[in-house]
Amino acid sequence: MWQGLLHQYRDLLPVTDQTPALTLHEGNTPLLPIPTISKEFGIEGYVKIEGANPTGSFKDRGMVMAMAKAIEEGSKAVICASTGNTSASAAAFAARAGLRCIVVIPDGKIAQGKLAQAVMYGAEIFAIKGNFDQALQMVRKIAEEEPITLVNSVNPYRIEGQKTAAFEVCDALGEAPDVLSIPVGNAGNITAYWKGFKEYHDKHGFGLPKMVGHEASGSAAIVRNQVIEEPETLATAIRIGNPASWKKAIQAKEESGGLIDEVTDDEIVEAYQLLAEKEGVFAEPASCASIAGMIKQVKAGTIPQGSKVVHVLTGNGLKDPVTAIDTSPVKPTVIENDFHEFKSALSGVTT
Ligand code: F0G
Repeated sequence: MWQGLLHQYRDLLPVTDQTPALTLHEGNTPLLPIPTISKEFGIEGYVKIEGANPTGSFKDRGMVMAMAKAIEEGSKAVICASTGNTSASAAAFAARAGLRCIVVIPDGKIAQGKLAQAVMYGAEIFAIKGNFDQALQMVRKIAEEEPITLVNSVNPYRIEGQKTAAFEVCDALGEAPDVLSIPVGNAGNITAYWKGFKEYHDKHGFGLPKMVGHEASGSAAIVRNQVIEEPETLATAIRIGNPASWKKAIQAKEESGGLIDEVTDDEIVEAYQLLAEKEGVFAEPASCASIAGMIKQVKAGTIPQGSKVVHVLTGNGLKDPVTAIDTSPVKPTVIENDFHEFKSALSGVTT
């Protein structure tokens, strides 16, 4: 039976005899081929479905490690800033472990499902009239002054936990892919995957992918090489203008011979719908930057035809039902509770 990441990868993680066996059975997520999109764009494509984690995003991988270490070190409370997924994950693991959890979110700019999770898991929630970058500044400062553990990805244990996704990708394929296509927000995850690929290559010789990251155009700080004071994008998860792991993301790009580019909200929405309609996979908008970015780079020739591309789908589509409903052309046909009306409304559909 799968027993979670700390058990599975004990030897590759900073797990000691004192580390509690915390788990929500995170990790072990599907690596699913996407045959229709692959054919259309001339690649061998897969999606790493991180929305299958217990709280519906990749954050659980890092959070289980960070929370276990916080407990090991005697902490009684954790804090994070979040565009939504980190707060959901922190709140869940804190609930499980019996720790106090404080989350700071940008007011009005997190998806409803994520807020619902933080509420249900019993976090103490502060919604600031500001953005993620400002929230992060605030929690970093408090964590320096008060006995409370910061569980954003600037906590190195978060990166340790998240690197396990690279191990799973290599094990599923029997080698590293040619390209790892990944959304970039605060840039912790691209940092973690690159660390994971390098460590697994050293251990098993699986090879190394090119790291291809995608920011949203309205918050493309790394691409533009400047802090974005007022980041904007419909992909609220990556609405970040001053990524904390900026330098490490550039390092991952450079060491791997990859690239970091941007995708527009229109390109994200197109990919979001394509993935759901052609492959039956519903991922949240930010996640679909990995598909949108692949399409852009294939068209530009920077991802060559025939490449084996793994796209990281960082979060579940159900996290953000409002964006799904608002952007979809599909609208329910409202009819009377009347069989004849139903039948005539159906005509043309059933023939
Ligand atoms: N995709 C999703 C669904 C996310 O929630 C995030 C980050 C990213 C991609 C980007 O990952 O920051 O490691 O580059 N969400 C954070 C949060 C910021 O607070 O939940 P990154």
